[in-house]
Amino acid sequence: MKSWKVALLPALANTRLTVALDNGVGLKPHMGWSSWNVAQCNAASASYALATADKFISLGLKDLGYEYINIDDCWSTKSRDSSGRLVPDPAKWPNGIKAVTDRIHSMGLKFGLYGCAGDKTCAGYPGNEGHERGDVDQLVSWGVDFWKYDNCYTPCRQNPRPQTCTSPAGSTKTWYAPMRDAILGVQNTKKLHFNLCNWGRDEVWTWGASYGHSWRMSVDNWGDWASVERIGSAAAGIYQYSAPGGFNDLDMLYLGSSKLNTNQEKLHFGLWAITKSPLVLGLDLEKISNSTLDIIRNKGLIDINQDSLGKAATTFRPPGAPAPVNGKIYPYWAGPLSDGVVVGLCAGTSAGTYSVNFKDVPGLGGSGSYEWREMYTGQTGKGTSASFNIGLHDMRVIKVMKV
Ligand code: GAL
Repeated sequence: MKSWKVALLPALANTRLTVALDNGVGLKPHMGWSSWNVAQCNAASASYALATADKFISLGLKDLGYEYINIDDCWSTKSRDSSGRLVPDPAKWPNGIKAVTDRIHSMGLKFGLYGCAGDKTCAGYPGNEGHERGDVDQLVSWGVDFWKYDNCYTPCRQNPRPQTCTSPAGSTKTWYAPMRDAILGVQNTKKLHFNLCNWGRDEVWTWGASYGHSWRMSVDNWGDWASVERIGSAAAGIYQYSAPGGFNDLDMLYLGSSKLNTNQEKLHFGLWAITKSPLVLGLDLEKISNSTLDIIRNKGLIDINQDSLGKAATTFRPPGAPAPVNGKIYPYWAGPLSDGVVVGLCAGTSAGTYSVNFKDVPGLGGSGSYEWREMYTGQTGKGTSASFNIGLHDMRVIKVMKV
């Protein structure tokens, strides 16, 4: 009996049922803001963090569920202190990190920091390799809630290790495990959200849930339409790996940068929402336009993203529809919700009339009558189908419920 248990456990450890970091965190895709796409290293400061927290309140974002203020690369000094500890850059954190997390917590928000599994971060700051437990203890002492963990300068067959290794010396799992274990080690004191940023290597979606609460499934969103196409289309094939406690992370929302027009911003936000990606704003909230603000404050879409079922939408092919094209955004998406089904219609390659018969939608099927509401226009309807004129690169998202 004993040997049976021993033999079975390692196998179970790799299934979606056993979440190693099952600490009650990350049951829904996380929502927040990250400094990286705002001004890279220059935005990794107390002043950006606190100004953003104020904006979360004044713009009503906190009430909509935006919660995490995450500081990315470049928050520390370039070397550790004589005791091997990380040192917050005093020019960026004049009162230290804890003063900032205390303030952010007092506002009902959470605070995140960034580390790296290699010996340096991507921007060349100290990495966490070999310092995992000590560094996590530091995070806990500062009250940090969220930890993004990057993949630069990790073990590599190239010598010296390059920033981005093209010939890794092993699986990324090997260098993400020590940090996962360090986080497990402080579980009784602090429940950290562990965000794996290995850029989708080693099919992270197949094991990410045993290591963390969310995992980047691609290289960066560079903020252009090509990135939305590349990442959004790839999400369709890995939808089944997202569930409460562990979600595919499609990378930060790159709205408000002027690289996308309003239609493209709507499709970007809508697709990230229905595929249950974390919704992490990568923009300067001091400079946001009203049209971008309307998109990120769309309560209907946020409610779909945060639905308790935590199941991601994927593509479906109605009769007569063309086959999906690799790297292009397919028009028809659907996914289950706790109280209905979400259908996404994307004009990813051409403007036109997009229609859906509810009998063709997975999860609706069969006969019956339905009610629906569209999230961007507020349009509602009843019946067995819905149809929309959609401009190039725009999207419509309907929630459909049986009546
Ligand atoms: C990349 C990561 C980005 C950002 C950047 C910081 O590897 O994908 O999201 O964190 O490093 O240097």
